[in-house]
Amino acid sequence: MRRNIVAGNWKMYKNLEQTRELVNRLKTNLDVDLKGTSVIVCPPFTSLSLASTLLQGSEIQLGAQNMHQEEEGAFTGEISAGMLIAAGCRYVILGHSERRQYFKETNELINTKAKKAIAAGLKPIICVGELLEEREKGITEQVVAAQIRGVLNGFTQSDLESTIIAYEPVWAIGTGKTATPDQAQAVHQFIRKIVGQSHTWALAERLVIQYGGSVKPDNAAELFAQPDIDGGLVGGACLKADSFTQIVKCAIS
Ligand code: PGA
Repeated sequence: MRRNIVAGNWKMYKNLEQTRELVNRLKTNLDVDLKGTSVIVCPPFTSLSLASTLLQGSEIQLGAQNMHQEEEGAFTGEISAGMLIAAGCRYVILGHSERRQYFKETNELINTKAKKAIAAGLKPIICVGELLEEREKGITEQVVAAQIRGVLNGFTQSDLESTIIAYEPVWAIGTGKTATPDQAQAVHQFIRKIVGQSHTWALAERLVIQYGGSVKPDNAAELFAQPDIDGGLVGGACLKADSFTQIVKCAIS
């Protein structure tokens, strides 16, 4: 049976002091039986080390929001998978739509990064999702299928076992517009079908597929109740301890 995974993508928010406050509050709020649900916080790079120290002894795990594909070198401003591991990360978000849009990341680059992440011992949370105009044109499935095939190109069975997919319709990110549970479920089921075709049905059945895009305490339960939705990747609502806690509680079953 698949476990729900809820990850908070802090984006470019929270300095050290704010990190301390949020992590400490989450630790207190989530000191409950998570019943196998994984909870991950993904602060900015500058807060990873502090968050890792604060999270010692807690079940909350740590992730980063991006990484570079090379192990080391003259890449000013970049961070490697090994550095993330050393900072206490176990997960890394890759190919977020903001990285695709503002930093021109392609499926090919995301695929390279994901393989490097896995080789280093990180679990990538790989984001896919269509733009509003693509949904309106009725090509959501084509777009998502191309993204999935691209980002998972050459993945072995064991690579896929370490991978999480986040379906995030771009029109729902930070907009307050959530995909309806039915719309999200349909795409999640479709992603599973694509992975079943490219790999095996057994692997596709085990693949964790999170939903992201304006997940809030008042819509999380209905989204997470869908058969192919395995938790969420949360942006805005993860910046407050109370709303993130409520969302996590919707994922604990
Ligand atoms: P949102 O962001 O919850 O603010 O829509 C989700 C994300 O960007 O991962």
